[in-house]
Amino acid sequence: MPSEPIEIKIKILRQEIEELNYQYYVLDNPSYPDSHYDKLLQELISIEKKHPELITDNSPTQRVGGQPLSGFSQITHLTPMLSLDNVFDSDSFGKFYERVFHKIASDQPITFTCEPKLDGLAISCLYKNGNLVHAATRGDGKIGEDVTHNIKTIQSIPLKLRGDFPELLDVRGEVFMPKDSFEKLNKNAIKDGNKTFANPRNAAAGSLRQLDPKITAKRKLAVYFYALGNAEFKKLQNDAEQTSDERLADSHHNRLKQIQSWGLPICDEIELRHGDKACLEYFKEIGAKREQLPYEIDGIVYKVDSILSQDKLGFVAKAPRWAIAHKFPAQEEMTLLKGVDFQVGRTGAITPVARLEPVFVGGVMVSNATLHNKDEIERLDVRVGDHVVIRRAGDVIPQIVSVVLDKRDVNASSIIFPKVCPICQSPLEKEIDQAIYRCTGGLICSAQKTQSIIHFVSRKAMNIDGLGDKLVEVLCDKQLINSVADIYQLSKDDLIGLERMAEKSANNLLQAIEKSKQTSLAKVIYALGIREVGEVTAMNLANNLFDFKNIINANLEELENIEDIGPIVAKHIVAFFENENNRQVIESLISHGVSWPEIKPKDKSELPLLNQTWVLTGALSQLKRNDAKAVLQSLGAKVSGSVSKNTTCVVAGESAGSKLKKAIELGIEVISEEEMLKLISSFQIVKI
Ligand code: IVH
Repeated sequence: MPSEPIEIKIKILRQEIEELNYQYYVLDNPSYPDSHYDKLLQELISIEKKHPELITDNSPTQRVGGQPLSGFSQITHLTPMLSLDNVFDSDSFGKFYERVFHKIASDQPITFTCEPKLDGLAISCLYKNGNLVHAATRGDGKIGEDVTHNIKTIQSIPLKLRGDFPELLDVRGEVFMPKDSFEKLNKNAIKDGNKTFANPRNAAAGSLRQLDPKITAKRKLAVYFYALGNAEFKKLQNDAEQTSDERLADSHHNRLKQIQSWGLPICDEIELRHGDKACLEYFKEIGAKREQLPYEIDGIVYKVDSILSQDKLGFVAKAPRWAIAHKFPAQEEMTLLKGVDFQVGRTGAITPVARLEPVFVGGVMVSNATLHNKDEIERLDVRVGDHVVIRRAGDVIPQIVSVVLDKRDVNASSIIFPKVCPICQSPLEKEIDQAIYRCTGGLICSAQKTQSIIHFVSRKAMNIDGLGDKLVEVLCDKQLINSVADIYQLSKDDLIGLERMAEKSANNLLQAIEKSKQTSLAKVIYALGIREVGEVTAMNLANNLFDFKNIINANLEELENIEDIGPIVAKHIVAFFENENNRQVIESLISHGVSWPEIKPKDKSELPLLNQTWVLTGALSQLKRNDAKAVLQSLGAKVSGSVSKNTTCVVAGESAGSKLKKAIELGIEVISEEEMLKLISSFQIVKI
């Protein structure tokens, strides 16, 4: 049988590769493993090597092409790239809504397309006959820079459109750097002694302005499209009367769907909302899951959905009257560094804490920020008296991201890292390749002792209600407790008379202490505060080794065989139990009545969620997403990132969006985080 001509083979391969890209990036629902994509691409590369005359600019092999450029050329946008007016609170949004409502003279609530405001850079991509011709930055709105060579490195940008696309298409969107790519980029920069980027937007901007696309390709940018610039369809013979506008949808939301149908990715959080209240609810919902989104956003954009109404409203200066950006409170602010204290943690880690002139950032007043470690102080070259940029994102501890050198005072003084523990004066030690200095005082160090007791009684550990940080500090100061086991010897007499401790609160506390004795093995292990042993590792230890004797006597090899435990964690566990003091504490806890249900070894085939596929979506409030994943996996489940007909169950956290919608459409079981936790604890081998 004659083989097909090479041109046809190449065409089919390119189409197959584009199709896989579309499934992966636009539909977020790949039907093949990544290895299949790699195989097809390799095949295309090798054929093109033999037939260089058949290489086209828009072949998937040409995403990272050619030599570095010597500069950027300019591109005049077909229609200007507009900006948006901003509001910063719901009252101002209310006023915007009123203006729109009156101008449209509607008797119904106005429908808006609500979209996350992506924190990146605006981009315009021009396609002719379905082929990517060029891509340009916004520039001054009229003329931008040609960044086609870098845009092509973004895998989700189609080099060829699909479906019923217009002959000429100018489509606008936002190029951004996903949070995980940003973290990787900065980690590598620190490792290589290079400068880091302060935030993903700066990193995206820096990457897009590279002259060498090979560098951009490594940075893993992404894009979502959010508007049409121009769209002109070919005139059809039998449809001569239909104009381009008529072939476009008459609502913004449906136009976005058209954009998506041409193979261009759009953000999957976009939703239609009717009326001002519903828009503000969307603002709240997205705000709640902002930290969980894999990319940075800095607000919400509301766009009047009807194109007819948009036309009625028109534009002012450089912004449309039919759209507004509702910004979240700024996550970065400048303030003064007044001093630095050195705190000693539960495991002896010395953390420099910046004392700041209080500043309102990320929605709260911040007066302290972490400086992490000595390397970080040196990397930032920060001095007391400097003006610094503080970042507070979500519940994450505020950080200093940079120093405003322009404002440096001549009297700004260097920060001197201590040579000995600031609390107990024991020498400090640092492991090779690690940035953290630690106090070697162990439980001689009162700070370490207090912190380890605070951890022991905390909610996820022994959960002793009413024994807060301050009270632990007082009990330690007064030498009423010296180790975690002493908590179980406290008497009413010890407590009464302490500040704010009357008979009733003393009784309540003693009851809470008593109640905490009935617990699970995993919780006791976690409560001991072994370095690097979090809730999930503690649970894995309990479920694999079943009782304390086995855990105490486990060697490195046995420990490393357990899921989630690597050589470093294994070393910490062995070292902890080699310490005679620690063994005595455990014995003492048991002799005071701390106990847990016996765990019976189970055969792998008995794992309760074996052969099931689970999906986690939305914001979880009690477990970190990775921890929830690990727990489900330890019960035998596969945890997938996308919902399909093969999904067994979807756990929907707060503000779950498109995955939840899809699960409902497919009739897949959906449960809340609470229900998942209940289910997990109902399996006898897992007590968390
Ligand atoms: S629409 C005519 N939608 O925000 C409307 N812009 O402050 C033009 N941006 O330059 C913009 N996410 O870079 C729109 N969903 C979104 C957006 C968005 C981010 C950026 C865009 C624009 C800037 C205006």
